[in-house]
Order: sequence, then structure tokens, then C-alpha cells
Amino acid sequence: MGCLNKLTVAFAVLSVTAGKELGAKAAVRKLPEGLQFGAATASFQVEGGWNASDKSPSIWDTFCEIPGKIKDGTDGRDTCKSYEYYQRDIEMLKFLGVDFYRFSISWPRVLPTGFADKISKDGIGYYSKLVDELLANGIEPVATLYHWDLPQSLQDLGGWANPLIADWFEDYARVLYDALGDRVKLWLTLNEPKQFAIYGYGTEAFAPNINSPGIGDYMAVKNLLLAHARAWHLYDKEYRQKQNGSCGITIASDFSEGASDSPADIEAGNLALDFEIGFYSHPIFSSTGGFPESVVKRVAERSAAQGFPRSRLPELTKDEIEFIRGTSDFYGFNHYSTRFYTAADYKPGMFDVPSYNDDVGAVSGRGDYVTAPNGYTTKISAGIRKALNWIKDSYNSPEIMIFENGYGDFGGIDDFDRIDYYKEYLDAILDAIEVDGCRITKYTAWSLMDNFEWSQGLSVKFGLFEVDYEDEKRTRRPKTSALWYRNLIASRVLDPADNPKPENLEF
Ligand code: BGC
Repeated sequence: MGCLNKLTVAFAVLSVTAGKELGAKAAVRKLPEGLQFGAATASFQVEGGWNASDKSPSIWDTFCEIPGKIKDGTDGRDTCKSYEYYQRDIEMLKFLGVDFYRFSISWPRVLPTGFADKISKDGIGYYSKLVDELLANGIEPVATLYHWDLPQSLQDLGGWANPLIADWFEDYARVLYDALGDRVKLWLTLNEPKQFAIYGYGTEAFAPNINSPGIGDYMAVKNLLLAHARAWHLYDKEYRQKQNGSCGITIASDFSEGASDSPADIEAGNLALDFEIGFYSHPIFSSTGGFPESVVKRVAERSAAQGFPRSRLPELTKDEIEFIRGTSDFYGFNHYSTRFYTAADYKPGMFDVPSYNDDVGAVSGRGDYVTAPNGYTTKISAGIRKALNWIKDSYNSPEIMIFENGYGDFGGIDDFDRIDYYKEYLDAILDAIEVDGCRITKYTAWSLMDNFEWSQGLSVKFGLFEVDYEDEKRTRRPKTSALWYRNLIASRVLDPADNPKPENLEF
């Protein structure tokens, strides 16, 4: 640590103490000692190499071919070409000075048939090299088994709507624990269940484009919970002792609250929290297990009124509830923004009937918050602290690892809006740790670099690094936010006045 940095730290400690004494928030805040920093990507969003070696198509390869599905008409064939250039990604991670890198594994790259009958040598080889090189550079690999790129072959058999997916997912997990578990010590089973189940099976906005609202999406929810639990139990029983790592799930945990203090709005906000987060977290983290009662009741009532002889939400049996309960070693938390719910604005028939939105039964918006002109994510930093506290209070204060947080815009190297977003959100996170006692051990910026933002294609950017898509080599350049993140990690202080000047660097 340089002399200047030591001085900054000393100043920070003084000002934090002074701030506490005066009851005011310190201007410069020291970062808690145990808090580690990382950056994240996902296979389909950065790898490219869509048909390299024996890789088979994923549901997102298929989805991109449907005209009009991706806003700017782009696809995932090449994106950032990390399959080819992963070493440059590692150089970028070193530049930032991160403790860990969160990446995901492409199921159809590793198992071209979707099943574990044939393991791709090149597919496993790619991830093995990535892991080795991360470790050689002192960066911890954090691997997600599933970040939405299901083999198309399995979708042809129903994908997440087929209960057998739990067998297929367990087999896939075993292949990866066997091949990489000697070196990967932190596993994430599924990324953001809501996003791939509700959008993928209940709307036409996401792969696999199964538009079965309020039915197919809920089948996927039940099956994914069981699949996740199978992968966790497998790790717990057969690998934990010899590999000495941990395994969990990461859940989209944007906050929901009433748009006003009226009891109806407050109730709508609470129900939305149960639908948005509790649907996935309650079965795993609550002491009783199972879906939140409020969700079970609402879907059963609506189903009956709609003439369904049984609830559209498949039941979890007692054994299934027990099997799923407790299957995560930590709470994986992804967060971007907050929505405010108004009960009175909901009118029957305004959403598809049946559907998830109709079951939630309230209208949501972003309140008075205005997105910056170049912004995509709405900055509502108070919401992250509330969401962290909701997790802490609902689930007996689990260890929380923040695996995604970031700001989307439409591009540019001087991304001061993104820096502001990170500063405000980290300030709220530090309050959650220091004032509220949330046990947060990891923070991850989404994303290391601009990449394929699902149905938005390449048009929306979340990266700390810009990627030049016109250039065959996909040259990456640090945005101002990358320089800021590097300073944050090196100095271990959150300094509101740190606004670095762009540096002309290429990776
Ligand atoms: C997903 C990422 C995505 C990010 C920004 C999360 O929902 O896990 O894949 O790029 O949000 O939209």
C-alpha cells in the first residue's frame, strides 16, 4: 500500500469515528475488513464461441434467431469472445485488483447432448484453463452452474417444465464438481430463478419463449427448486468433505414496497416481496420451508375464481419441502433497483389472465425517481439496504454474498452516472453492515465488461470495461468506473470525492 493510501485510510478511520460521535454519516468510509470484492459475467453474455468444438446450441442461441426478439438484432455468437480471449479478461481482473471472479459455465459446452453420457473434452478444458489461470493470478474462481443457457436438446423435452430436469441438473453438477471441484471452492447452482422461470416460461420476452403465464412458469419454479436442492445435497453428501468448499443459490432481490403509506399499498408491497423474492428464498431459507403462505393463498384463490379445479401453483409435498429447506450455505443476493406498488391502480383484466402479474395484483413503478438521460437502471439506493434487512429479518440473519449489483446505460467511457450509482449503493450497504448488522461478506460488480444484455442485445451496457464490437479482437478499454473500482479496492475506503480521470488503456 502506498504512503498516500495509508494516509487516506488514517483519515478515513478518523472521520468514521468523528461521524459516529456526531451522529452524522462520515464523508469517507473505511470498508469492513472481511468484505471481499469481485466482478461477474455469464457464459452466454461474454463467451461467444457458440459452435466451437462440439458445443451444441443453447435456448438463447435458438431464441436469438427468432426475428424481433433481440432489440438491436444482435446475438450471442461472438459477443466478447471470451472463449478465445479469457486471458485478457484475467488481465482486467488483475488490473482491478479483485479478490474473486464470478463466471458461469455453459451446460451445452460441457455436455453437448445435455446429458452426462458424453463430456466435452474441449468444453471442460476451457473452464479448467480459466480456473487454473485465475488461481495462478491470486483470484478466487466463483462458478455458477446455470446462468440461463440451457441445452436446446433438453428444452425440446420440456426444459425446466419437465420434473426430470432435477435428475439432469444433478448429473451435470456432478460432472463439474468432479472436474473442477479440486480448485473451485465456491459454487452457485442457479442464477436468478425468477428471471428464467417467470420470463422464460410465462412470457415471450426470454428464452425459451414458452408463453404459459401463471402455469408453465410456476411448473418451472417448482422444478428448479428441486433441481437446485439436488445439486446442493450432492455437494453436501459427496463432495463437501473432500473438496472443502461451499454451495448455494443466488436470487434476484430487488426491493418492492408500497407506493404510499395506505394499508392497501403497504400490503401490496409486502405481497410483491413474497412473490418476487420469497417465492424462491422462503423454500430454502425459512425455518418452515415451502412457498410463502401469502403466495400459496393468492394463487389458489385466483385459480378457483378462474375455474381451475386445482391451484395453478404446483404443490410441494412435505418431503419436498424438507428436501429443499436449508439447501444453501449462504444467501446469494443480486440487486439493481426498487419498485413501488399501488393497489388501487390494479384493474382485473389489465394483465393476462391468468398470469404472474395478475396474481401479484398491483401496479408497480419507479415512483418519483428519474433515470439519468443515459441511464437504464433506476438509482434507488435506499432499497438495497431495505432488501438486505428484509433478508436478515426474514431468515435469521444468514451470511449474505452480494453476487450482482450494477448500473446499465447506453455506453461511454466517462461513466460518472455508474460511479455515482456504485458510491450510493455501497454507502447503503455499509449502513446495512455497520448500523443494521447484516452479515455481508462479498460484493460483486455486474459486470466486468459490456456484454450481451439478453433481450436488449448489445444496446444496454453494464460493464466496467467497454468492449469494441467492431474490432475483431474485441479490444477492451477501462471506463472511468473501472479506475474508480480499482481505487476503491486498493485504498479500502469509499471516498465520495474520488472521480478518476479516464486513462487510455487497452486490454
Ligand atoms: C442477470 C444478468 C444481467 C443483469 C443486468 C441480472 O438479472 O443475472 O445476466 O445482465 O441482471 O440486467
